[in-house]
Amino acid sequence: MTGLDRAQLETIARFYLDAGVDTATLDAPVNRFQDAVREPSGRAPLPAAQPQSRQTGMLARAAMHSADPVSPDGPSSAERAAAARTLDELREAMAAHEGCALKKTATQLVFADGNPAARIMLVGEAPGRDEDIQGKPFVGKSGQLLDRMLAAIGLDRTSVYIANTVPWRPPGNRTPTPEETAECLPFIRRQIELAGPDVLVLVGGQAAKAMLGTATGILQLRGTWVGAEVAPGLRLPALPTLHPAYLLRQPAHKRLAWADLLSLKRRIDALPPRG
Ligand code: URA
Repeated sequence: MTGLDRAQLETIARFYLDAGVDTATLDAPVNRFQDAVREPSGRAPLPAAQPQSRQTGMLARAAMHSADPVSPDGPSSAERAAAARTLDELREAMAAHEGCALKKTATQLVFADGNPAARIMLVGEAPGRDEDIQGKPFVGKSGQLLDRMLAAIGLDRTSVYIANTVPWRPPGNRTPTPEETAECLPFIRRQIELAGPDVLVLVGGQAAKAMLGTATGILQLRGTWVGAEVAPGLRLPALPTLHPAYLLRQPAHKRLAWADLLSLKRRIDALPPRG
């Protein structure tokens, strides 16, 4: 019992919907096996160190596996990524991967948009609601701002390739957890390696932290070109910049993003012609 009447509950639900929270799940998976072994009295199950019945032990093992980011039955994300020789194979490998819990709540895999042969690759955070529905990255409000930002320096989706560090929508558009990001990292690394861009743009703090393996905040990282270790022996120039969703909330920081865009423009204008 919540003690709230219907009208109050509807107001709260509308507030959540407006904030982008439209999925009724928790951040962490719930262990239903554990609930199943609760004693009728409602007492919590015995701790693992206590002697267990055969059934309780089995359930505990099953629960352990269900919380495991890498399925014991299938290849790891790193193995699947390494085996992919083309972007199409990588997309198939990712669609077949069961090791990331986000796949279970997402509508579909959001692999990429734009031109895979482009010299510039943008790496974002994770799909939101609109991306989850359409199956393409950056198609919602922040994607529309991103398109306007790219257009300001003469770029569009024919001249850039776009993907995310995490290809499945986190419920309610929350930031992917470090575990989810780590699970998906081999995929985006391989995607960059297979696309072979000349420069990377790391869009937002989560993407910059994941690709650069740093805890430094985006306001400190942005605007400075760094080397991103994509694969053994492959280091690409990368520009961390502010996420358009952040710019929609903090329009005063658009001037910082504009400085980053100009830096990107200078860099691509200076690229030698492709041989
Ligand atoms: N934000 C991202 O980081 N990626 C998307 O695809 C959409 C919104």
